[in-house]
Amino acid sequence: MKVLGIGGSPRKGSTTEKLVQEVLAGVEGCQTEFVSLAGRAIGACTACLGCVETNVCVQKDDMASLRASIVDADAYVIGGANYFGNLNGLAHCFMERWYQFRHQEGKSVAGKIGVAVGVGGGDPKPAVKAVRNFLKYNQIECIGDVTAQGPACCFTCGHGETCKVGAIHMFFGPDTKITEEITPSLAKQPDVLSAARHLGKDLGNRLRQFAAGT
Ligand SMILES: Cc1cc2nc3c(=O)[nH]c(=O)nc-3n(C[C@H](O)[C@H](O)[C@H](O)COP(=O)(O)O)c2cc1C
Repeated sequence: MKVLGIGGSPRKGSTTEKLVQEVLAGVEGCQTEFVSLAGRAIGACTACLGCVETNVCVQKDDMASLRASIVDADAYVIGGANYFGNLNGLAHCFMERWYQFRHQEGKSVAGKIGVAVGVGGGDPKPAVKAVRNFLKYNQIECIGDVTAQGPACCFTCGHGETCKVGAIHMFFGPDTKITEEITPSLAKQPDVLSAARHLGKDLGNRLRQFAAGT
């Protein structure tokens, strides 16, 4: 049995990636694969309907090389980040391209199970809600979700302490110095890490039960 983890943030080594990897680390007795979308060119679905007859997307970009891993997997751990109260664009484009699997009652992904992962600088809920909805639309049972706070770019952009519209002013007020102590990281969220591991364990248990026919 195989579990495919997708880190939907465009940042390499992001909180989203680490949290998806934490869920995968909890999976026992199954093969796991992690794919980061960071640096990949994945465009939006153009609704060209080129996939209707074959259930294979005709667009030529980095989504094509991910198709086999998606089809082969028995379960998915999909993570994305909150951008302006929505799921970040790269993760959304990746999801839109799953349109290729649903024509003529396509069975490549339907009936499988999944875990939703969401990250936000302040609020991770919109991201995790979008992933949950995506799984539901694709008839994939979401067995649970996990969310975390990640560092807004304002912590590292170089202007965070003075910018009046940035996250530092918004969350902590003016005259705040950016320190390690106030910078969000997964290491400071042990409950989240533990929840992620447990979800991975549950996912592995479900898959092994399924394989055993129980
Ligand atoms: C374009 C953009 C918009 C964002 N909008 C929001 C937002 O509306 N709410 C929020 O809580 N965080 C927002 N953030 C902060 C990110 O959610 C935060 O940096 C998170 O850690 C990103 O996930 P990552 O660390 O996995 O890349 C935004 C970040 C970017 C780059």
